[in-house]
Order: sequence, then structure tokens, then C-alpha cells
Amino acid sequence: MEILCIHGGRRLTGEWTVHNAKNAVLPIMAAAILTDGKTMLEDCPMLSDVGYMGDILCTLGCDVRREGRTLVIDPQGIVGYEMPDDLAKKIRSSIFLLGPILARFRKATVTFPGGCEIGLRPIDLHLGGLRQLGVTIHEEGGVIHCDGKHMKAGNVHFDYPSVGATENVMMAAVLLRGRTVLHNVAREPEIVDLQAFLNRMGANVQGAGTHTITVEGVRRLGGVSYTPMPDRIVAGTMMAAAAITGGSVLLRNVPVEDMQAVFSKLREMDCVITEKERSVTLHAPERLRAFAQLQTQPHPGFPTDMQAQLLALSTLATGTSVLVENVFENRFGHAGDLNRMGANVLVNGRTAVVQGVERLYGTRVVARDLRGGAALTLAGLKARGETIVEQAQLIDRGYEHLETALASLGAEIRREHILSDT
Ligand code: EPZ
Repeated sequence: MEILCIHGGRRLTGEWTVHNAKNAVLPIMAAAILTDGKTMLEDCPMLSDVGYMGDILCTLGCDVRREGRTLVIDPQGIVGYEMPDDLAKKIRSSIFLLGPILARFRKATVTFPGGCEIGLRPIDLHLGGLRQLGVTIHEEGGVIHCDGKHMKAGNVHFDYPSVGATENVMMAAVLLRGRTVLHNVAREPEIVDLQAFLNRMGANVQGAGTHTITVEGVRRLGGVSYTPMPDRIVAGTMMAAAAITGGSVLLRNVPVEDMQAVFSKLREMDCVITEKERSVTLHAPERLRAFAQLQTQPHPGFPTDMQAQLLALSTLATGTSVLVENVFENRFGHAGDLNRMGANVLVNGRTAVVQGVERLYGTRVVARDLRGGAALTLAGLKARGETIVEQAQLIDRGYEHLETALASLGAEIRREHILSDT
């Protein structure tokens, strides 16, 4: 098991460059199998979720390898349309392969990716979208059999703007002759990035970032070289690290235009934020002021992936904060351990009420999910004494060596690998 050992109290100062986005890379890796051509993903972050996705592509017969920071995907040898169950369970994003596999093979077999620490994570919106394209789907003992023989372009409407379902159906439609129009889609920036990647491959997709996406089917796509967008959640997390320590940082490679909801909340807490085209500076006050309330929403609302980090900040702010988690049904797993550090967080269903306290105290805590683990790490940066974050390998799913990044800004933090049964 990986643990992070943190001695709190250091102000974070300095400059850091944000790495590119996990949630852009994962669907793009799935889209890479839509052609026999080779895809070169430049400056691709070294994350365990990227590794797992690569393992799944290899199981399907692709060749995936690293050349420095470039991830090279060669799908020429792809033979399989059956997702390996063990790997599919390891990473939810494997469900993104459903659309591309159907586009290529007109059939697919996947297992339910299963829930995770933050919720049940159903896939009904994915399957409903594919059914509207004419895919027949039946489930037998947890295995989903998809038959795309009669797939055709047409209208698809999503009951909820699901990020993954939007991406899956986009990819399923790019090789379907005719026009497919997707209604009530998610508007996340990573979907705009996927559109850019698909169009670079030769697809004709328009409208990503709006409520409606139009796909004009093409006959074939080619392999390309592509640099995924920067990670807005990693950028927001590093800004939160500076904020909780009363620090002052400059971050480069930041998708500033996609982060306005996060900037607005940090400004409400008295942080001074200066935006440039692709960089941002944050100067934090000695003590943060509580935001009145925070509601997570689909983009461009406040991102659910930043809720845990802002909750950690609010535990030390002056005043009372109310956070409502509208996107996932169980995403306050970090509250218990924050209270063990001396915080005052009351959780009731999808609402957390936080009374700010003067001080947190270091202790042994456990990361239960990716962003909750990051939040506990942030709390440890400010807590008096030593904080040990267990199961830190969960943080590695979405942050490239978080401890190295924080240490480069002055944090007293190190990673240890301890032998344990988990
Ligand atoms: C993507 O997950 C992200 N993951 C998540 O980031 C992010 O939190 C989420 O979008 C929301 O922004 C990747 O992009 C790899 P959804 P996704 O489908 O696609 C429910 C992180 O920390 N739902 O928009 O799974 C679902 O249960 C991760 O980086 C259905 O009910 O999110 C949730 O409550 C966590 N049926 C809500 O919709 C479905 O078929 C939003 O899910 C699909 C989703």
C-alpha cells in the first residue's frame, strides 16, 4: 500500500506546470481504436487509470507503449470485441470502449463496470443512447451483449447530460452513414477535446460544449498525433493546496476558460486570482472566508470532482459553509476522516454543513476515492503535526506524483510504500 506522510504548516509558494487531463485521455484512448492507424498521444500523464486503460486495449489485441511522455497506440492487431471482466471492473472508464467497439465490429460484449466508492455508477444512459442508434442489447448474468448489425444514424436524447454516455454515443456514431444528432448532452471541456481528436482523425463532429452535438458519419478515420487538454481538476487541486496553506503560486498550462466556477468559489473565500491566457496565479489570505454554499452541477456549473477539495478548505475557513453534491449520491467519504482531524462536518445525504475551526490535527487517515484522497492530503498540508494518508495509490489514479508536485512548492511530504494485505 502507498502512504503519504505530511508535516503540516508550510506555506506553498512557487511555480508549477499542470499535467494533461485524465478525463480527456481516457475517452481519447478508446477513440483510438476507431482506426487501424497509429495514434501518438503527446505529453500524456503517467496515471494508473491510463495504465489500466492501456492494459484493456492490449487485451483486445492493440499494441500500447510509452515513448517518454508519448503514449503510442497501435490498434492494427485488434481482434477482440469482448471486454476482459477483471480489467473492466478495475476501471469504470472501460465502458467508453463500448461505442468504439460497436462502431468497428458492430458487436460488443462488456460486463457492468460496477459501482465504486462514490456511487452506484449505473450505465443505463449509455445503453439507452446506443439503443436509440439501433443497437440491440441484452444482459445475461452481469454480461451485456450488444448487437449493432442494424445500427444507423438518427436522433438520440439523453435524460441526463452524462459525460461518459455522451462520449460513448459520439464515438459509436462517427462511422455511421448519415447524420446523428445528440440532444441534452454533457458540455464538459473534455468532450470538446474528444471532438477535436475525432475531427483530427477525419471525423465530422460539431457542437461539443453546447447542449447538442451533430455527427456526420464518415467512411474511415486515420491515426493521428494529438496533445490532450490540461487537467482542470489537477489545476484546481493545486490552487486549493496553495489556498489552504495561505500560499502564493503560479500555475502554467491551465485551461483558464474552463475553470470559472472554481475561480469564483476561491475568490469568494478571499483568494486573489489573476488569470492569463494559459496560466493563473493565486494569492491566499492568512485565513480563508467560508463560501455561503456550493452546489455541484454538470459543466459549466461547479465540478463535482472539486467538491472534496473545497470541503477540505471550508473546514478551516471562518464561518459556516453548506455543500450540496448533486451529481453523485455518495461523495462525502472524506468527511469522517476530516472530522477525525478536528474538523466539524455534518453530512446528511447529499448535503454537508461545515463549521470552520481554528486548527486541524494530523493523524492517520484513509483515502476512500481519488478526490477524497486529494482532499485529505490538502488538509494534512495545514494540520498541526503529521498526517498519514493511507491507500494513496487511489490518488495516483488521477494525479501524477502529487507528493512531488506539492514538495516542489515547499510542502513537507513524502511517499512510503508499506507492505500490507491491501
Ligand atoms: C465522468 O464520469 C468523469 N470520469 C468523472 O470523474 C466525473 O466526476 C463525472 O464525469 C462528472 O463530471 C471520466 O471522465 C473518466 P456521468 P461519468 O456519467 O461519465 C449518473 C474523477 O474523479 N449516471 O456524467 O461516469 C452517475 O451515476 C471522476 O476524475 C447514470 O445514472 O459521469 C452520476 O450520478 C469521478 N446513468 C451522474 O449520472 C448512466 O448511464 C453523472 O455521471 C451514467 C451516469
